[in-house]
Amino acid sequence: MSLLESLGLRALHRLDPEAAHGLAIRALQMGLTPSPGAVTTPRLRTQVAGLELPNPLGLAAGFDKNATALKGLSRAGFGFVEVGAATPLPQPGNPKPRLFRLTEDGAAINRFGFNNDGMDAIAARLAERPEGAVIGLNLGANKTSEDRAGDFAKVLACCGPYVDFATVNVSSPNTERLRDLQGRDALMALLAGVMEVRAGMARPIPAFLKIAPDLDDAALAEIAEVAGASGISGIIATNTTLDRSGLRSPHHGEAGGLSGAPLFASSTRVLARLSELTGGDLPLVGVGGVATAEQAYAKIRAGASAVQLYTALVFGGLSLVHDIVTGLDRLLARDGFDTVAEAVGTDRQTWL
Ligand code: FNR
Repeated sequence: MSLLESLGLRALHRLDPEAAHGLAIRALQMGLTPSPGAVTTPRLRTQVAGLELPNPLGLAAGFDKNATALKGLSRAGFGFVEVGAATPLPQPGNPKPRLFRLTEDGAAINRFGFNNDGMDAIAARLAERPEGAVIGLNLGANKTSEDRAGDFAKVLACCGPYVDFATVNVSSPNTERLRDLQGRDALMALLAGVMEVRAGMARPIPAFLKIAPDLDDAALAEIAEVAGASGISGIIATNTTLDRSGLRSPHHGEAGGLSGAPLFASSTRVLARLSELTGGDLPLVGVGGVATAEQAYAKIRAGASAVQLYTALVFGGLSLVHDIVTGLDRLLARDGFDTVAEAVGTDRQTWL
């Protein structure tokens, strides 16, 4: 990390976390953040569900909820970027404060509740997206919607033509009862609606399902079964957790979803379990607590074809992206892997 970035981060950490995040987005819009461009090597270049990625490290959903910093993010070194969540109608989300830094734990708790500008405004920005980057959209449902399952298909129909992939997010803990949509019948019906819209697109894009880390083995088995039957392109594991074990920070009791370091082990276990349940046949994206190249590599070896991160950027800054990607290349080379794909799932057993 440069001295400038380190001073910038220190200043941001004196501010309210949501205000600090707004400034980080502003810095991205103004071109003040690290811009290494596409970090890639033949070893890092990889294909996931038909997407050609320069490297397997992506930005997780929720960082750029409104797709207002696409240009800066597409130059930050990520192999792919997921924006959103977008809902059909704009909505303000939960009352502030709703984002908390847990510095002692390398973690965050958020209860934003899908605050966003709505699909029309977001589609207009995505239509102006930079060329060359791989950009996806996280799909959400409105809090007051009478047809939450239908909301996902609506957002896909509106924004799908402008993105490279979409993610059905039924795993946010901050919209009451949203996670009930992870049950077998509800999920099957919801995904059927999404897949119908996708099939009607001029350019059908990969559709992923994002799941919670707080699912037991039986629920995971059901999800693997539904994923196979529905024809979705892959699973993103995982969203934030409701678990609060072992935290030391003063904000540990705040309601919402916990992300960052304490999520690493549980989300990687869910990932490995899914990899086993799907026999390695379904592309998986590993997310939760990644802050180092070693951790990104561990997710890949547990079964992930690609990895995402968010919370580590709060503590490590955007230069972390370049560090993790180049570190990952070195780790793959050290262990004799010529490609990312060769390493996927090679250490799954450790996590089961
Ligand atoms: C998120 N996350 C998230 N996920 C999602 O699918 N849709 C969303 O809108 C959001 N919003 C959101 C906001 C904030 C402030 C945070 C910290 C997280 C979850 C995120 O994409 C990721 O799954 C988890 O944060 C775990 O990864 P990290 O943060 O531990 O790397």
